[in-house]
Amino acid sequence: MKGSKPWKPFASNCCSVDDKTIFGRRRASQSDVSNNAAPLPLLGRISISDISTSSSNGISEELMQNFCRDLFDFKLSELRYVTQNFGRGFLLGEGGFGKVYKGYLDDNTKGGLKAQAVAVKFLNIEGHQGHREWLAEVIFLGQLRHPNLVKLIGYCCEDEERVVVYEFMPRGSLENHLFKRISNVSLAWSTRLKISIGAAKGLSFLHGAEKPVIYRDFKASNILLDSAYNAKLSDFGLAKLGPQGTDTHVTTRVMGTHGYAAPEYVSTGHLTTSSDIYSFGVVLLELLTGRRTMERTRAGKYDLVDWSKQYLTSNRRLHHIIDPQLSGQYSVVGAKRMANLALQCVSSNPKDRPKMPQIIETLEALQPLGDMAVTCGHWPVSPKTGRNTNSGNNLMKRRESPVFGDHKA
Ligand SMILES: Nc1ncnc2c1ncn2[C@@H]1O[C@H](COP(=O)(O)OP(=O)(O)O)[C@@H](O)[C@H]1O
Ligand SMILES: [Mg+2]
Repeated sequence: MKGSKPWKPFASNCCSVDDKTIFGRRRASQSDVSNNAAPLPLLGRISISDISTSSSNGISEELMQNFCRDLFDFKLSELRYVTQNFGRGFLLGEGGFGKVYKGYLDDNTKGGLKAQAVAVKFLNIEGHQGHREWLAEVIFLGQLRHPNLVKLIGYCCEDEERVVVYEFMPRGSLENHLFKRISNVSLAWSTRLKISIGAAKGLSFLHGAEKPVIYRDFKASNILLDSAYNAKLSDFGLAKLGPQGTDTHVTTRVMGTHGYAAPEYVSTGHLTTSSDIYSFGVVLLELLTGRRTMERTRAGKYDLVDWSKQYLTSNRRLHHIIDPQLSGQYSVVGAKRMANLALQCVSSNPKDRPKMPQIIETLEALQPLGDMAVTCGHWPVSPKTGRNTNSGNNLMKRRESPVFGDHKA
C-alpha cells in the first residue's frame, strides 16, 4: 500500500462495545446479522472487533504507540481555547454523531505543530457507540495517509468527551455545494469531474491496500474539499477491514446512510468493497443531477437510483435530468459516459459493478472532452436566429426538468 504504514497487530484494553446499527445517521436498531468479531487480533491486521475485547473506555498506551504516534493528544482545555469555547460562530456543521467546530491553532498550541486552521469534531458517545467510532477514526486515519483522505491531526479523550481534530477543509463538503447552495455559484462540470476523480482515488487507495479497507460511509457529506476543490474523504468511524483469506465478504450489522448503502448489504449484512462502489455510483448520480439520493417531493419519497434509471439508459432522455444549475455547460458525451458509469456502479448485482481503477480511468478520460451542451446544438435552435434558444446563465430552469418522482419521462 503506497503512502501508508503497514497495518500493525493490535490488542488493547480499550473498550468493549456491542455493534449497533446506525442508519441514516440516526441510531436505530435493525435486525441483527451475525457479528464476526474475531476473538483474537490477527497478525498484521487491525479491526474494530480487535478493540472490542476489553473494558476501559479510554485510549491505551499500546494504542498510542502503535497507531497514533504521528497524532497529537489534545487536552479539552486546548480545544476550548482554539475554538473560543466552542463558540456558535465557530460551528461548521452538525452530523449524526456530533458537532464540528472550526479552530485556529497557533504556534504555541502544541510543540511541533504549526499554526493552522483545524476542524474539531465531537462525537456523541451515547451507549459507547460513539467511542467505538471515534476509535475507528483514530486508528484508520492515524495509519492511512493519502492526498485524497482528510488528514487527522490529533484527538482528545478526556472524561466523556471523544474528539478528533482534522485539517480544516476550506470549501466544506460536497453536500453543501450541491444541495445547500452555500454560494450563488454552482459547481462547474469540470469541478464535478475533478471531485469525482479525487474521491475515486481516495476510495481506490482504501480498496487497493494490502489489507483492503471498506469505507462503508461514502456520501456527499463525507467528501470534503480544499481551496482548489481537491476531494478528501473524511469520517472513518464505520470503516472496516475487508474479507480475509478465502472469505468473499465481511458479515456485519447494517450501518451506513439510507440511499447510499448497497441493497445487498442492507438485506444481508454482507459487506464487500463493491458496497462502496454502489455508494460511489449514487454520488455520481448526485453530481449529474444535483439531486439528493433520497428526496421528499409532493408525490412522496423518492429514491434517486430508481428514479433516474429510466433516464440514464436513454441518450435522448438523459439531458432532462442533468442538474439545471449547470446551465447546459457540460460535455454531452462526458455526461453520457458518466451516466453509464453510474449505472454500472449501482447495478443490483455487485459482480457487475466496476472496480475503482476502472472507474478512475473512465472518469479521467472525460476530462479533456470539451463538447459543451450549449455549443453543440444540444438545445433547440431558434428558427429566427438559428442559434440555441438557451444561452447565458439561465439556460434550463429547474421547473423545466421532469418532476422528481414522475416516472413518465
Ligand atoms: N475537516 C473539515 N473541514 C471543514 N469542514 C468540515 C470538516 N469536517 C466536517 N466539516 C463540516 O462539518 C459538517 C458535519 O460533519 P460530520 O460530523 O462529518 O457529519 P456529516 O458527514 O453527517 O455531515 C460537514 O458536513 C462539513 O460541512
Ligand atoms: Mg462526515
